[in-house]
Amino acid sequence: MGIFAFKEDQSLGEVRSVETSRITIRVTDGQRLQKARVGRLVAIQSMGDEWLIGIIERVWRHPVELPTLNEGEVPKDLTTIQQEENGVAVSLVGTYRERDGERKDTFTRAVFSLPEINRLVFPIEEKSLEDFMGILSATSKSEAITPLKVGTYTLDGKATAYIDGDKLFQRHAALLGSTGSGKSFTVASILEQAAELPHANMIVLDLHGEYSSMDFAAHYRIAGIGDLKVKKDNAIFLPFWLLTYDEMQSVFVDRSGDNAPNQALALMDSVIETKRAVITALGKPELLEGFTVDTPVPYKIQDLVASLDAKNEEAIDTGESYASGPRKGQPKTEKGPLTGKLSRFLIRLKTKMNDRRYAFMYSAPAEYDTYESLHDLAIKLMGSGTAKDGVNSGIKIIDFSEVPSDILPVVVGLVARLVYQIQFWSDPGKDGDARHPVVIVCDEAHLYLPSQAASAGPLERRALENFERIAKEGRKYGVGLMVVSQRPSDVSTTILSQCSNIISLRLANKTDQAVVRQLLPESLEGLMEVLPTLDVGEAVVVGDATLLPTRIKMSKPKCEPRSATIPFWYRWARPKAPVDLAAAVENMRRQSRD
Ligand SMILES: Nc1ncnc2c1ncn2[C@@H]1O[C@H](COP(=O)(O)OP(=O)(O)O)[C@@H](O)[C@H]1O
Ligand SMILES: [Mg+2]
Repeated sequence: MGIFAFKEDQSLGEVRSVETSRITIRVTDGQRLQKARVGRLVAIQSMGDEWLIGIIERVWRHPVELPTLNEGEVPKDLTTIQQEENGVAVSLVGTYRERDGERKDTFTRAVFSLPEINRLVFPIEEKSLEDFMGILSATSKSEAITPLKVGTYTLDGKATAYIDGDKLFQRHAALLGSTGSGKSFTVASILEQAAELPHANMIVLDLHGEYSSMDFAAHYRIAGIGDLKVKKDNAIFLPFWLLTYDEMQSVFVDRSGDNAPNQALALMDSVIETKRAVITALGKPELLEGFTVDTPVPYKIQDLVASLDAKNEEAIDTGESYASGPRKGQPKTEKGPLTGKLSRFLIRLKTKMNDRRYAFMYSAPAEYDTYESLHDLAIKLMGSGTAKDGVNSGIKIIDFSEVPSDILPVVVGLVARLVYQIQFWSDPGKDGDARHPVVIVCDEAHLYLPSQAASAGPLERRALENFERIAKEGRKYGVGLMVVSQRPSDVSTTILSQCSNIISLRLANKTDQAVVRQLLPESLEGLMEVLPTLDVGEAVVVGDATLLPTRIKMSKPKCEPRSATIPFWYRWARPKAPVDLAAAVENMRRQSRD
């Protein structure tokens, strides 16, 4: 016996049209239409013990045009004239089988056959819903090699919702929702469960320091000005020499200037020159074989500046001397090809070098100048320890809150690129299992992965390139992305469209809703109608990681992220903590809160 034992009078209506996985149902009894609610499930028997499962997408009740009568004509029987037409549109999502070989009660996402016209359609409710959701829950738990508990189904709060932890990250995930809809809580809850695994490997790009409360994670911070004086272990410097030529160019070369090509060439020459000198001094000639301008070896920025200065001030000896005048007897010189042409560029470069907010890049402590410092950085970023005390944890939270917003994209992009490249160059091992998979959680992705509409500048484009490569190729090398954003319409569509799993919390904005809808197969668009009305922490989950595309009430994490929401009215009503505004002004002057 299966879980469905419907009686004919329980049916909603009968199948009226079939169009691939979308069907419409004619509901003759207007009363029964009340049972049809968008998002609810229905069952249609296709063979003896096989049922098609569908989700209600649309419900309608149209008035029917009454037949026009000739004058004087009296209708025979008023009750036989239908005044309304009731219907339901359903999207088929899978097949339930009472028996499948040895196994009983199975659900798969495949739709093996389409329903016949006039088949009865039954709403799945009450006991049958409970049973069905129980099967769904058990199947998703057992089918996934690594079930990840995300919450409970909205349809039945007693059924735990599991998703497939492998599939979720293999082809990337997007976590979308307006502010305050529960994104950070969802991230925290996933992190918490990942931390239970002995070798989890996740890097969270935390833009507001929201996740500082997660005590199971390792915490790092992109260094701020305060770190120059007092050395702290968790500060990460990203020294200048890690930048690729393209990244440097996007930071320093003013593309609008006439001299841009000269500047770019000079930068290229000087970087190559400086790096070659370092490699020779290090005694590592093997690096010269595959050498490019982007080979990451540490060099001193002062050496690069010196090389550029020399080009800018170059004076070529002509071999002649002044015969008369104040400089009589001195050698005559000619301008070099770049003499004076790099002045503006050098000013730009030096201004940035002296801007203390960029300390993490231009004023990295001496230990970052060593050849081995990149090894240490790789271990910090990608090491996956087992300790839960956070020191050696595989969950790494990197706080970017002190990074100036104008170069945030480059810095975030740099971290992502390093992770991808190190993973790419890791020995895959015999079975490919020597590469340890890693996931990058990109919080507030709209800030550094902008869509074309949000007009990406050269800095953003570099970051985008790095992330797009991960989005396209990451699966092969074990780098997954989890893109988190409150403004999906401002996030690069190239990246979003590579995300096979969408977790969408409440989304109020129409443009954002449209973006999410575009990411889904057409047959599920109806499901997205609920986006603006979802409860806090409730999400529509769609993708290959979930067995049924449906609403899930996400569970709260044990360890809550520090919410960025400040309760205004409440705080105004309470006794006030002392606020030192003078100190704030001083912090602003010093650009540090320490
Ligand atoms: N799964 C959930 N269940 C219940 N309440 C939640 C849940 N997720 C979030 N909340 C509530 O909503 C608030 C905002 O959540 P948060 O994750 O910070 O939103 P976002 O990151 O999307 O701006 C939290 O402070 C919490 O009170
Ligand atoms: Mg948040």
